[in-house]
Amino acid sequence: MSAALSRARAFAAAQRLRVPLLQAPMAGVPSLPLATAVARAGGLASMGALLLAPAAIGDWVARFRAEAGADAPLQLNLWVPDPPPRRDATHEARVAAFLAHHGPAVPPGAGDALPPDFGAQLDAVIAARPTVLSTIMGLLDPAQATRLREAGIAWWATATTVAEARAAVAAGADAIVAQGSEAGGHRGAFDAGRARDEAVGLFALLPAVADAVPVPVIAAGGIADARTAAAALLLGASAVQIGSALLRCPEAGIAPAWQAALATAAPEDTRLTRAFSGRWGRALATAYVQAAAMPDAPEPAPYPVQRGLTAPMRKAAEAIDDLAHLQAWSGQGVALARPAPAAAWIGSLGRELEALLGGLSPSA
Ligand SMILES: Cc1cc2nc3c(=O)[nH]c(=O)nc-3n(C[C@H](O)[C@H](O)[C@H](O)COP(=O)(O)O)c2cc1C
Repeated sequence: MSAALSRARAFAAAQRLRVPLLQAPMAGVPSLPLATAVARAGGLASMGALLLAPAAIGDWVARFRAEAGADAPLQLNLWVPDPPPRRDATHEARVAAFLAHHGPAVPPGAGDALPPDFGAQLDAVIAARPTVLSTIMGLLDPAQATRLREAGIAWWATATTVAEARAAVAAGADAIVAQGSEAGGHRGAFDAGRARDEAVGLFALLPAVADAVPVPVIAAGGIADARTAAAALLLGASAVQIGSALLRCPEAGIAPAWQAALATAAPEDTRLTRAFSGRWGRALATAYVQAAAMPDAPEPAPYPVQRGLTAPMRKAAEAIDDLAHLQAWSGQGVALARPAPAAAWIGSLGRELEALLGGLSPSA
């Protein structure tokens, strides 16, 4: 058996998984059917809790356990808060005027919307006792890391650079999620201002991180079939985390126009953009994303102000399934996937992966 396969099998066994395939946490897509299907297939179910109030986190976990089993492994995910944004009323008015060409008028105060309180969310996560809390956009402080450890919850930190991975291990992270720049959704850079300049593809990032840290590394970004998953394991990952490709499964419950566009998106059909939230993330190059990148468009406001300003446009687009103005996050590899219902797809991916790495044959 290859070293990559035995490393992946050992990691999966330690996490009580049958396959080294993890659902990527995705805020805004808290699909219970998707998480349950991944768990049933022996992968790691995940939920991105950024937008959920503390009570809703506990409710979601209770419903997940009712479906998937009380001891099903589970990853919850939180965003470490950025420093407060610098506000500029004049500039925000320009952004609002621009957005009014792409959706409804932006009501006064829309830019003031804040995500739920991080400390209260962390309390709710600890009370819910998932197997893993993963973080993105920064690190836990020492007291928070200690509370997790005492609760028996592993801490996985997302890193987009080698320096971030090293800092996360020094802060006590039990594993690193190495997020390549292919990844759909927000980039997890600790410093929002460096997220685009330090956009490193997974092929360079993963082996460098694996060489730099003494903890398991989980690969994320552009993984959508057995080939890409196997390549990540060969490059040093102990498991792979799949986001955009799982959005193509029927259980994802995302907007139909977004799901349809993911099926045909070439790698070059996505863009890094700040146009939705103010933080860099990878989305389909829709009409709005392209317009926001034109020289005459105002720079997006900082996170989370821009997220509040774009909320009316995004909501209106969802109501009429209008791809041009949906927040249609997408990784570069999404169209490689041939997804069926999620449990069947994860199961077959696991078997193909084993075969590619010299384990059992796909038909076994
Ligand atoms: C719709 C969407 C929402 C996401 N939300 C989060 C999030 O809340 N927290 C997080 O750590 N990563 C988030 N991500 C990033 C994923 O966890 C993961 O890094 C990425 O999907 C992997 O790349 P791929 O999309 O090419 O598979 C999100 C990705 C997508 C597509």
